[in-house]
Amino acid sequence: MRPVRRQIFSWVGGALLSGAAPRILRAAPTPIRIGLMLPASGTFAPLGKTIQQGLRLALTQSGGQWGKRPVEFVVVDDESNPAKAPEHASRLLSRDRSDLLVGSVHSGVALGMAKVARDNNKLLIIPNAGANALTAAGCTENIFRTSFSNWQTIVPLGKVMADRGVRTAAFITWKYTAGQEYSAGFKEGFEAHGGRVVADLSLPFPQVEFAPLLTQIAAVKPQAVSCFFSGAGAAKFLLDYAQSGLKDKIPLFVTGHATEGILQALNTEAEGVVSVLHYADGLPHRADQTFRKNFQAAHGAQPDVFAVQGFDTGLALAQALSKTKGETDAKALSASLEGMVFDSPRGRWVMSKAHNPIQDIYVREVKGKRNAYIGIAVKALEDPATGCTLGS
Ligand code: PHB
Repeated sequence: MRPVRRQIFSWVGGALLSGAAPRILRAAPTPIRIGLMLPASGTFAPLGKTIQQGLRLALTQSGGQWGKRPVEFVVVDDESNPAKAPEHASRLLSRDRSDLLVGSVHSGVALGMAKVARDNNKLLIIPNAGANALTAAGCTENIFRTSFSNWQTIVPLGKVMADRGVRTAAFITWKYTAGQEYSAGFKEGFEAHGGRVVADLSLPFPQVEFAPLLTQIAAVKPQAVSCFFSGAGAAKFLLDYAQSGLKDKIPLFVTGHATEGILQALNTEAEGVVSVLHYADGLPHRADQTFRKNFQAAHGAQPDVFAVQGFDTGLALAQALSKTKGETDAKALSASLEGMVFDSPRGRWVMSKAHNPIQDIYVREVKGKRNAYIGIAVKALEDPATGCTLGS
């Protein structure tokens, strides 16, 4: 264990000889080193950027210190490449001597980080990746998520669509862990309300050649189309969907990941798209209004959901490290994260027994450059966490 506080005793010239008491100078406490794995390149790069901005805002707001220790980030671009994740995470712990890990965006990368965190008994906080297993069958004492599970951010969509009279839909996504979970979650939520999935389409991550799949959708003629895409790939999908002429014929109902952080890059291609997510523009929460003002001042832009998740990761670490008095031992930190409750910009946020937020899921509609808040889909939604025995 590294010392939390080093003291330096210094004898100021001649002090001893003169009989004066030695002066004790306290050196700054040893910094906490956080190994931060996020995408800085590729389709998810914009998500990595705003997560980090949110995280740094939380740190700035606590004077650059958590648990009375300064904080250093050791940042790695994980390229959303699961094959490199274990190596990156191991290096952050051994070579870079990180005290704990934060990351990442891509489910496959987070699964790789989780194995390293487990094997090395270090704390891991996941600020985005939604892989259900991380807080279900694969849940672990020292692994926490501050974002969402993939299940949470798609299942509520089925009722929203059914309530609007939609009975048939096509689903389209990337073929990887998250895409497969969004496809399954969409089917679960839509079928539970009488809907039928008439086409389930995918392309390899992170490809964006959507045209052949859009042709298939046009041939099937569903009443609506749903999807999971995110980041730059989502912007390209919305653009292609509108330009193919499908948008005027078949409405889009999506997980809100597809419309977050990208509206500035589009004209009116996403106008009217309805989505569900754990955040929205225009929420009636004081914590959100304050956060948006501070984020705008710090970064010159309005935040998106990913910025909120980064900020909340910082809030969680601030509270946890304050309880442990700066101690970063995984056992102590995990104990202080158990059952944590706070007022997030997204609303009331409670850490579940499986270590995933229990949170409200909102209905939103794209209006201009905003994912406008139009209602609540489900209050205090908790992931089923099937197979997790933590806290029981
Ligand atoms: C994931 O890979 O779990 C993932 C990536 C981007 C999102 C949501 C989930 O916006």
